[in-house]
Amino acid sequence: MVRGLTSSWGIMIRFFVFFALISAILAQTIDKNVFKNCSRIDFCTRLRNTDVDEKLKYSADIKSYNSTKANIIVIPLKNGNGNKLNLVLSLLKGNKIRAKVQEHQSKRFELGDIVIIEKLKALPFKTSHIGDKVISFYPEDESYPYEVQVLAGPPFTVQFIYNKQVVVILDADKLVMENSDASEAFTFKVDFPGSTRLYGLLDHAYKMSLGKTNNGSDNSMDPFRLRNSDSWAYEANSPMALYGARPVIFGHSKEKTSAIFLHNAAEQWIDVNSEDTEQPSAYFMVERAAFDLFVLLGPTPKDIVRQFTTLTGRAHLPQIWALGYHQCRFSYKSQDDVKEVVALLDKNNFPWDAIYLDGDHTDGYRWFHWNSTTYTDPVEMLNNISATGRVAVSISDPHIKVEDSYDVYIGAKEKYFTKWKNGSNYEANCWPDLSSWIDFMIPKASDYYASWYSYKKFNGSTPALAGIWNDMNEPAVFDDNTEKTMPFDVLHAGKIPHGDIHNIYGLTQTRATHKGLMDRDEGKKRPFILTRSHFAGSQRYAAMWTGDNSASWEHFANSYSECMTANLMGMVFCGADIGGFIKDPSMELLQRWYQGAVWLPFFRGHSSRESKRREPYLLPKEVQTVLRNTLRLRYRHVPVFYTLFYEHTRTGDPIIRPLYYQYPEIEDMDTQVLVGTDIMGVAVTQPNVSSVEVYFPDKNSHWYRIDDDSAAISVGGIKKKVDVNITTSPVFYRAGSIIFRKDIPRKSAVAAIDDPFAVYVNLDQNNEASGRLYVDDYYSFNYTDKNNYLYVSFTYDNDLHALRMSTIDGDNTGLNALIEQIVINRLKVSDEGIFTSHQVIFDKTYDGIPLSGINIGPSLNENEELIIKL
Ligand SMILES: *[C@@H]1O[C@H](CO)[C@@H](O)[C@H](O)[C@H]1NC(C)=O
Ligand SMILES: *[C@@H]1O[C@H](CO)[C@@H](O)[C@H](O)[C@H]1NC(C)=O
Ligand SMILES: *[C@@H]1O[C@H](CO)[C@@H](O)[C@H](O)[C@H]1NC(C)=O
Ligand SMILES: *[C@@H]1O[C@H](CO)[C@@H](O)[C@H](O)[C@H]1NC(C)=O
Ligand SMILES: *[C@@H]1O[C@H](CO)[C@@H](O)[C@H](O)[C@H]1NC(C)=O
Ligand SMILES: *[C@@H]1O[C@H](CO)[C@@H](O)[C@H](O)[C@H]1NC(C)=O
Ligand SMILES: *[C@@H]1O[C@H](CO)[C@@H](O)[C@H](O)[C@H]1NC(C)=O
Ligand SMILES: *[C@@H]1O[C@H](CO)[C@@H](O)[C@H](O)[C@H]1NC(C)=O
Ligand SMILES: *[C@@H]1O[C@H](CO)[C@@H](O)[C@H](O)[C@H]1NC(C)=O
Ligand SMILES: *[C@@H]1O[C@H](CO)[C@@H](O)[C@H](O)[C@H]1NC(C)=O
Repeated sequence: MVRGLTSSWGIMIRFFVFFALISAILAQTIDKNVFKNCSRIDFCTRLRNTDVDEKLKYSADIKSYNSTKANIIVIPLKNGNGNKLNLVLSLLKGNKIRAKVQEHQSKRFELGDIVIIEKLKALPFKTSHIGDKVISFYPEDESYPYEVQVLAGPPFTVQFIYNKQVVVILDADKLVMENSDASEAFTFKVDFPGSTRLYGLLDHAYKMSLGKTNNGSDNSMDPFRLRNSDSWAYEANSPMALYGARPVIFGHSKEKTSAIFLHNAAEQWIDVNSEDTEQPSAYFMVERAAFDLFVLLGPTPKDIVRQFTTLTGRAHLPQIWALGYHQCRFSYKSQDDVKEVVALLDKNNFPWDAIYLDGDHTDGYRWFHWNSTTYTDPVEMLNNISATGRVAVSISDPHIKVEDSYDVYIGAKEKYFTKWKNGSNYEANCWPDLSSWIDFMIPKASDYYASWYSYKKFNGSTPALAGIWNDMNEPAVFDDNTEKTMPFDVLHAGKIPHGDIHNIYGLTQTRATHKGLMDRDEGKKRPFILTRSHFAGSQRYAAMWTGDNSASWEHFANSYSECMTANLMGMVFCGADIGGFIKDPSMELLQRWYQGAVWLPFFRGHSSRESKRREPYLLPKEVQTVLRNTLRLRYRHVPVFYTLFYEHTRTGDPIIRPLYYQYPEIEDMDTQVLVGTDIMGVAVTQPNVSSVEVYFPDKNSHWYRIDDDSAAISVGGIKKKVDVNITTSPVFYRAGSIIFRKDIPRKSAVAAIDDPFAVYVNLDQNNEASGRLYVDDYYSFNYTDKNNYLYVSFTYDNDLHALRMSTIDGDNTGLNALIEQIVINRLKVSDEGIFTSHQVIFDKTYDGIPLSGINIGPSLNENEELIIKL
């Protein structure tokens, strides 16, 4: 519009827009003139606050329901205007239900098997009528204690009932299905009766609890927006769209949890209300594509996570190096710069595992080609890195420079880019200037892109280039008129408008990259991919980070909320740029951020071009000491993360958890994180504090503080202040746990592979404790392909004063795991009833055998037990 204006007004408007843009860049904040609010989006404005006319409300013709051979239930819907729709229900195993609303002969785009990998088969069902106006469907198989009741209306209502309790309601009072050339937007409302909180809607820089958006006032909060966006310098505590989207909401209370997942990758806006109401609700406004809703009945958070990850998949194990510290910068300008960082991190004794090559390593952003003046000998540089036992990760984006001498472009030019309706390639500006975008919806284009990761085609790559970073894959486009992404009418595979699949573009890039790395390494190594854009299912291919955050306490706090939510939505390998990508953190914030980030699965320091260099060795000596100890704290606990990742592959369970996941009665503890069930990390998200308030869950439990020498014990079930100083942020072990660590300071996680374990036995008040340990070759797929792993459980036997170890399962052939030290933490009650801790360290011998002689690998066969008498 602005482009067409020639009057002086046009010039003024252009000037204004330009000025606003420049001031946003100077202020390093997201530009709200570019990224729109609801009131600047037609369908959002039109549908947000309108009531649906009585005549347009749909009723369900429950007498005419029909079902197919495949047990899919079809119920006709109609309104007073003669519009007809179908409600299509599938009752699924695992306490899940699929509910679609669709036009007869619907032309809406369906995602097929891109996101959902479970083979879904509707269960045989029974029905019963309750009067004339209600029909109930329930599985024949009584092990699924749920039913779906359809109330005729108008407006019709669908009640999802678990164990005789209505847990989710699809409320058609505001159901709209537009169906014209101009719009196929739709809306619907879901209610979560009895819930006290709504959680979810990843990805936002927001607290976990979604609270209330539309309260009818002029200064209401915008709805949460899901439209994957290059949200550079995004705001903290905002409903604005970020880089990824999971249209999932958990309705939670201390009694039960249920959830919905909208299987739709188009743009959407969601108003929520979970405050001052008995019946929290969410109102979805969706730009287009299928109305395809999954209801997950829980009833616990753990059940929801398992139901969701059964549908959309789980992450595979990372290689062990990926759990260490990653060092990044936009950018290391030359191979000499990289080698210097490598050398200086080592010289100053900071443990680390991976170094990143951001955009400047390329030949003018021609992916798969190196800058020929600054990275003249990538093989030598990679050898220099691998000589230290470390790896590199390089960036690779989905836009391809338009240039007839660029081989990647030449091979894609004819058939593999997204196109306009008239058949010409979509072209727009991005990092390399004029670019086109790989169309990953075309299988051959995806394979073509994957092939570039081969050692042969990616000249200068070696196995030391162990990971790939897919950035700018929302996709990001340097075009403010389209909110910095691809226009929604650009076509994929010649027929699918981009708007239908916008939120999975990044997922499809990581899928191709994953294939590229699998092919490159002949399926022998677990790929590592870091992605900025993601959708439900991305966990199968990639880790995520929270994008271009800023050096602020609020962003640090938001990273905890975001990664805990991500973990419950399947996207377990989550972290944030430590210190903040944009601007310069104070030394206090930087130290607190490293301390907090120890407990997030993905652990990377990163900074932008404009910010000061902050590699740990550049900082004041006392800060270096704190960071070195902080990194070592992470490295000691790498075995804990590794075991949890393994358990995630089996069950979908998150690596890190908000307190409400383990203790449903506790809500809103956004700065405390549980690593598995046994470690509780506390982020100190305020400056200048000498104490922080910590909630200790479970009144029958106790928590051992382990980050300082205080040996303090806290009783569960209370909130209490604990002292902090700048050297550490509080960390606690749960009484009753056994934690496996590697305590010898090494230069990397890889360097510690053969190190013995230190076993921390944290006894509870009954002198009981238990824990699990997982070990394998740390890099291959033999753990799935050949069942080659060691997975053992330990319990403490107070009568024998011994540790009992038994195999859970797995073939442990060839795997070694030594124990070197056993530390028993015991609770002691003083006369005043105060608990203190008493630590005994066994590091010499047990039963006459040196401790480091206990090899728990080959010494155990299935069902055999090893007793380590202390
Ligand atoms: C929406 O954004 C425009 C442009 O930034 C702004 O003028 C307007 O006040 C915003 N509206 C609301 C409701 O926030
Ligand atoms: C019910 O399903 C059968 C088989 O798919 C179909 O032939 C019939 O027309 C359907 N009836 C209604 C009322 O939709
Ligand atoms: C609605 O929300 C706005 C923004 O959070 C707040 O300022 C206002 O007080 C709220 N109004 C009501 C009636 O709750
Ligand atoms: C190579 O890197 C240098 C330094 O960053 C830059 O000036 C130059 O433009 C780059 N060359 C190409 C072809 O990318
Ligand atoms: C790696 O590069 C650094 C800096 O140039 C150099 O000091 C070191 O000797 C190199 N290491 C190897 C193994 O080549
Ligand atoms: C195709 O459409 C695009 C977008 O409207 C336009 O920029 C381009 O010039 C057209 N190409 C041809 C060959 O007409
Ligand atoms: C690969 O890169 C090296 C320099 O790193 C260069 O000498 C060689 O010619 C390149 N090979 C191809 C096929 O481009
Ligand atoms: C924190 O304390 C320092 C020194 O006591 C002071 O300079 C600084 O302003 C304080 N910062 C805040 C945010 O209170
Ligand atoms: C911080 O606390 C630890 C343990 O309580 C103590 O050893 C250390 O001296 C304290 N450091 C500072 C700078 O106060
Ligand atoms: C994986 O299993 C194969 C076949 O048993 C074996 O040859 C290979 O050495 C194993 N790889 C590792 C890393 O243990």
